[in-house]
Amino acid sequence: MPVLKNIGYLATCKDKGEQDDIHTIGQAAIAWEGDTIKWVGEEASIPDQYVRGKIYDANGKMVIPGLVDCHTHLAFGGWRPDEFEMRVRGESYLDIAQAGGGILSTVKATREATENELFEKASGFLEEIAKQGVTAVECKSGYGLSLKHELKTLRVYKRLEEESPLHIAPTFLGAHTIPPEYKENREAYIELLIDEMIPAVAESELADFCDIFTEESAFNIEESRKILLAAKVAGLIPKLHADQLTSCGGAELAAEVEAASADHLEKVSEQGIKDMAKAGVVGVTLPLASLYTQEEPLNCRKLVDGGVDVAVATDFNPGSAPTYDLPLAMMLTCNQGRLTPAEALKGATVYAAKAIKRNHKIGSIEPGKSADFAVIDAPDPNFWMYHYKGANCVTSYVSGQKIA
Ligand code: NIG
Ligand code: FE
Repeated sequence: MPVLKNIGYLATCKDKGEQDDIHTIGQAAIAWEGDTIKWVGEEASIPDQYVRGKIYDANGKMVIPGLVDCHTHLAFGGWRPDEFEMRVRGESYLDIAQAGGGILSTVKATREATENELFEKASGFLEEIAKQGVTAVECKSGYGLSLKHELKTLRVYKRLEEESPLHIAPTFLGAHTIPPEYKENREAYIELLIDEMIPAVAESELADFCDIFTEESAFNIEESRKILLAAKVAGLIPKLHADQLTSCGGAELAAEVEAASADHLEKVSEQGIKDMAKAGVVGVTLPLASLYTQEEPLNCRKLVDGGVDVAVATDFNPGSAPTYDLPLAMMLTCNQGRLTPAEALKGATVYAAKAIKRNHKIGSIEPGKSADFAVIDAPDPNFWMYHYKGANCVTSYVSGQKIA
């Protein structure tokens, strides 16, 4: 049975207590068998039966659960660096989208890409992502916007799940925006989503979740409700891009349809916070998207104080968040979202696992869970977030295997 010993500071991130309660142990050790954690505790009290296998040394550093990036748009064709310059010069994300750029320009490039090209590109991203100590990634489709191209993207995620050591949670985002061929007939695309695409995706078993971009400029509340209820009937779990650019009742709808999470939330209303807390919907903050779109940063404090579990993710995509640096997103959640480093850590581990309904398996270091952890070159979360220096993950383990 392998053991990781000499852990100076272990944050187990058990899903108990408040957001800042990360359940730490000093001078700790972890023992696992195969892909499953068997024992966690103070090194001095490790039972003999657990010290017979390979011994790894954490050299007194901090160990955390493998980080979970619970919101990415990982597979896409092309890039949009020109839009970055336009936004820096003062054009808004919405103006660029309305002029035919934005999501639709990535739709064009993604439709033109082969399944293999998308796989190779996304697989390269995953290798880099793993170096940060991330061990699970949620991946959305949404740049195909036809059954054929959405299934193509979802098959890429299936192959990543099979070939990469990381855990992958796939999400269907056919309701990302109205595709160009339905520009004059949005009702017909919504019908297509409900009558054909959602049932076919559910049947293919290539996605666990159905996400939607709920926004007056994409799908309004009534349309979103219809689509998400159809997804639920088909067996897909709802998720929402909610209240990002305008306050339009996205958080309230997330609670109504019992979504796993409502993400973005820069413009969430007081009522939305109350409804999410009551329904147990995880709030996913995406500070890199707020930063790149020059939106007001999210005040996460209000959500946490209102009783919502707040997860932190990158939103990695070629438009609003073209970076997959999850520790940077955590640092911004502290500096701009006003969560403490411990709260941000719980948000990027067990609450992120909750946002993808995998918290029974991943997100915390406890017996019975997947042996996923990262050794970080910092003495504790405060120092890590304060003296931020990008990738300082020394090694990580996924399903009991050392990967980086
Ligand atoms: O999460 N808000 C909508 N969707 C993405 C952006 C996608 C894009 O710009 O390509 C987001 O920010
Ligand atoms: Fe997103």
